[in-house]
Formats: sequence, structure tokens, C-alpha cells
Amino acid sequence: MGTQTRRAVYPGSFDPPTMGHLDIIQRAAQLFDELIVAVAVNAQKRPLFSLEERVEMLRECCAHLPNVRIAALEGLLARFAQQVGACAIVRGLRAVSDFEYEFQMATMNRQLAPEVDTCFLMTHQQYAFLSSSIVKEVARLGGAVDNLVPPNVARKLAERFALQRQEA
Ligand code: COA
Repeated sequence: MGTQTRRAVYPGSFDPPTMGHLDIIQRAAQLFDELIVAVAVNAQKRPLFSLEERVEMLRECCAHLPNVRIAALEGLLARFAQQVGACAIVRGLRAVSDFEYEFQMATMNRQLAPEVDTCFLMTHQQYAFLSSSIVKEVARLGGAVDNLVPPNVARKLAERFALQRQEA
């Protein structure tokens, strides 16, 4: 056994971060010495919150976790993982429907960075139905999202949609 720090990267769009994400972050932080939560630009998605806002929200949610840090990821995930010396990429799996996409990404990342493995954690069943899109939809229509996102995220969502209603 080496004494090397075992570092992992947990990437995602986190638009916004949910309790499901936080569950994965807390569990991964126990499995690895260091966890870097990488807030990425997903080319397929038009985010509600800017990269800076998503980084800030995650910093607040993870302030109590000493071995977790938050970073912005603007390029390739595989390259970022190599640059920070990570041994693993962590992803949460919610349902079978996640598998196809995750399998594709993990395979591509392995080709790009063979020394970095992808590690899947099963999302807690309580959050298996959750997604950032559904949270945004409920918040936009004025529904309560307090059980689904950390308090700072719930505040931020309320602010953003109040502003949008004013502008409309
Ligand atoms: N509990 C509940 N919901 C969860 C969850 C969990 N544990 N984990 C993920 N989700 C939800 C999210 O809320 C999100 O919902 P949405 O689709 O409604 O927004 C969805 O599952 C997946 O989002 P997330 O995990 O935040 O990230 P993503 O799938 O958008 O992330 C990246 C994709 C960022 C990892 C990928 O685009 C990437 O690697 N980008 C960097 C560039 C790159 O290297 N590209 C090549 C990749 S091979």
C-alpha cells in the first residue's frame, strides 16, 4: 500500500446542486482522501445559473466537508483528472436509464485517460427520482423544493425566479 493521496473528481453540471448530488459528495468524500467537485459546462444544456454561481452554491453546501474542494471545469474532464492527479472519476447512478449515457462517458474517459477509473455510486433511493431539471420546474412554478435542495440553493432559486417574474 502506498501513502499517496487518493484523489477523486466528481464532475457534473450542478444546475443547481441537489440533495442527490450532496449525498454522492458526502459518500465519496469518505471513500477518498480528497474529492474535487468539478463544475462543468455541459454543451447539451443551457444553464439557469452561471458557472460562478454554481461553484459558489457548492462551496457553501460543502463548507463542512474539509476534504472537498470545488473547481470550475472548462475543458475536458479526462485531462482535468490527469492534471490534478486523480485516480478516479465519481458519478452517481439513479436508474437503469442513466446507464447508457454513463457507460458512453466512462468508456470515452478511459480512452482519454486510461489511468483514471470511473467509480459509480448508487444514488440514495430517496433521491432516485430527483433531477436538477425537475427542481427548476417546480421552483419556477412556485412549488416547495426545501426537501430537494440545500437551503442556500432553495434561496437562490426563489431569488432567480422572483427576478424572472418581475422581468416578464
Ligand atoms: N441524485 C439526484 N440527481 C442526480 C444525481 C444524484 N445523485 N446525480 C445526477 N443527478 C441529476 C442531475 O440533477 C442532472 O439533472 P438534469 O439532467 O435535469 O440537469 C442529471 O442527473 C445529470 O447531471 P449532472 O450529474 O449534474 O451532470 P451532467 O450529466 O450534466 O454532467 C458532465 C455531464 C459534466 C460530466 C460531462 O458533460 C463532462 O464530462 N463535461 C466535461 C467535458 C468533457 O470532458 N466531455 C466529454 C465527456 S466523455
